[in-house]
Amino acid sequence: EWYDAALDRDVLLAGPRSFCAGVERAIEIVGRALQSHGAPVYVRRQIVHNAHVVQDLQRKGAIFVQEVEEIPRGAVTVLAAHGVAPSVRQQARERDLVVIDATCPLVAKVHTEVRRFAAPGSTVFLIGHADHEEVVGTRGEAPENVVVVDNPDEAARVQAVRPDRVSYVTQTTLAVEEAQESARVLRDRFPTLRAPARDDICYATSNRQQAVRAVAADTELVLVVGSQNSSNSRRLVEVAEAAGTPAHLVEDATEVDLAWLRGVRRVGITAGASAPPSLVDELVHALSGLGAVEAAESSVVDEHVQFTLPREVS
Ligand code: F3S
Repeated sequence: EWYDAALDRDVLLAGPRSFCAGVERAIEIVGRALQSHGAPVYVRRQIVHNAHVVQDLQRKGAIFVQEVEEIPRGAVTVLAAHGVAPSVRQQARERDLVVIDATCPLVAKVHTEVRRFAAPGSTVFLIGHADHEEVVGTRGEAPENVVVVDNPDEAARVQAVRPDRVSYVTQTTLAVEEAQESARVLRDRFPTLRAPARDDICYATSNRQQAVRAVAADTELVLVVGSQNSSNSRRLVEVAEAAGTPAHLVEDATEVDLAWLRGVRRVGITAGASAPPSLVDELVHALSGLGAVEAAESSVVDEHVQFTLPREVS
């Protein structure tokens, strides 16, 4: 099989790719909490949806839990980048936890919109995937009012108690075009639909989708580095496939199936917003074991977004 996959190749790296500002901030928060408080620091849920990031922080003394009930009273606790429902903050207060909030500011913005839109009797459509942690948290801001809308078909069916008092928000990591289509269907059905002042799909999600589309157009295979539970990484696979190029999501270089590479001379590589840049380097290095690799970058936009740290760790 190795022999079949051996070939000199061009590798085209999508730019931007890999860590976004919200993920960098969340990882930095856990690191700083460990430095100033010492281990262990508890983290509710995966700090970001990446197995390598989680393992690395575990080695440094972070303990990952599912629910705040598992955390000893009074312990230092970081809330993950995807955000939480207010009920989780309440549980943390009841356990006297020292909470440091790593919720991405762009997720917090969507929470604020839900609170603003959710007047009594109104409906807030939340375009997103019902079982995703971010959506669970956002919905928790107004569980009585929020109705989750997964896709355009659902948008065509959902109902509102008062069809004249409706609004929508979206998950930050959706496929841009599909989310726009869902919003359009809602707007057709509910003409007074209120929209967020600015797009909820974050800059990192839309930039990475634009970048992978450009790379897919110019390659025969796209490899996306990211974890299975990373929403934005999965969307990158879909966008590449929609552009007509076979694409696969891999945790790291070890998951690449050599059969994918058979006869393929031009490989596109990107990584989801939660996947460390070092994994991309390792993947390129692994490909160079199959033949000479000429790597180039195709950059669609420069990113300069940076978020300030919460006061507890700054
Ligand atoms: Fe935030 Fe977008 Fe990253 S919401 S965590 S900047 S993918």
